[in-house]
Amino acid sequence: MGWYAPDAAQGYFQQLPKVDLHRHLEGTLRVNTLVEIAHQQSITLPVSADALHAQVQIQPDEPLNSTVFLSKFQTLRQFYQTPEIIARVTREAIEDARTDGVRYLELRFTPLALARVRGFSLSEVMDWVCESAATASRDFDLPTRLIVSVNRHESVEIATQVAELALQRMERGIVALDLAGNEADFCALPFLEVFQAAHRGGLKVTVHAGEWGGPGNVREAIEVFQADRIGHGVRVMEDRAVAALARERQTVFEVCVTSNFQSGVVPTLKAHPIQRMLAEGLNVTVNTDDPSISQITLSDEYRVAAEVFGLSRAALTGLILAAARASFLNEVEKTGLIRRLAQEIDAAVG
Ligand code: ADE
Ligand code: ZN
Repeated sequence: MGWYAPDAAQGYFQQLPKVDLHRHLEGTLRVNTLVEIAHQQSITLPVSADALHAQVQIQPDEPLNSTVFLSKFQTLRQFYQTPEIIARVTREAIEDARTDGVRYLELRFTPLALARVRGFSLSEVMDWVCESAATASRDFDLPTRLIVSVNRHESVEIATQVAELALQRMERGIVALDLAGNEADFCALPFLEVFQAAHRGGLKVTVHAGEWGGPGNVREAIEVFQADRIGHGVRVMEDRAVAALARERQTVFEVCVTSNFQSGVVPTLKAHPIQRMLAEGLNVTVNTDDPSISQITLSDEYRVAAEVFGLSRAALTGLILAAARASFLNEVEKTGLIRRLAQEIDAAVG
């Protein structure tokens, strides 16, 4: 099942051992689980599976833009009704990644989104996600680290609290702070101090930039935020000087091709600049963003890289290893991951 080739057999791409560095928990929920929750919790939403699909997944006949894309998350916020539900969706996200052949996952979540509907505290939802992710990671044999997201269109005060709580949970799998949300209308700068403090405390930093905003935002993420990685960043190709800066610094781009098409960053899949980014010598990785909202898997995204952009199997392997190198694991863990991936790729590719 995929947006690009819905009936395509996954074979080769699914058995490739893969790494996902950019996947939002809130964009990863199984629709069947949502239907079940809607019934159990008497949520006043369309409870037929078809109607729910339309509310929480991008439909081919609706406008492909950031407003529609982000609106899906507003509907999803109504489902986070109990600690058990939050634990369950976390577990299922990790199980689904493993089923798709992901061998290392960085799963990001937005504490405010999970907390708001029932007035849970930010600290308790973070604890539930940390605990469930640790258990699922063991049960499904999928090393997983957590990234905590704050949205630009929400308050700096909340971001400050979330960052402090994340710093207190670095021993429990949280490795980074992410700036997400509405880049078209909201500036990153009010969040600078929050991100600087997180960095000083030992968290890594990733910033959604150059998605719904221009290349100046990519420069700002690199030079001002000192981001360790950039979420998307694909509009870097609109400014030669910023592209040169990113090449020089080997800034890591967490590219999510289908998401960019569905949220209006590019007019067609084919128009996506991933191939030009690679040709320019930029440090590119392939990721999903919001697999359930987009109705894709990471295998689908590798398939698109191969079939739409003509990347060779060696190039795909290179992208997987680039993602492992760009992970927020410590150096020992990273070396182990790269070794395991290389062995498994050799065995699979022959
Ligand atoms: N939150 C979830 N998906 C996102 C995206 N593609 N851009 C910004 N914020 C997001
Ligand atoms: Zn994202």
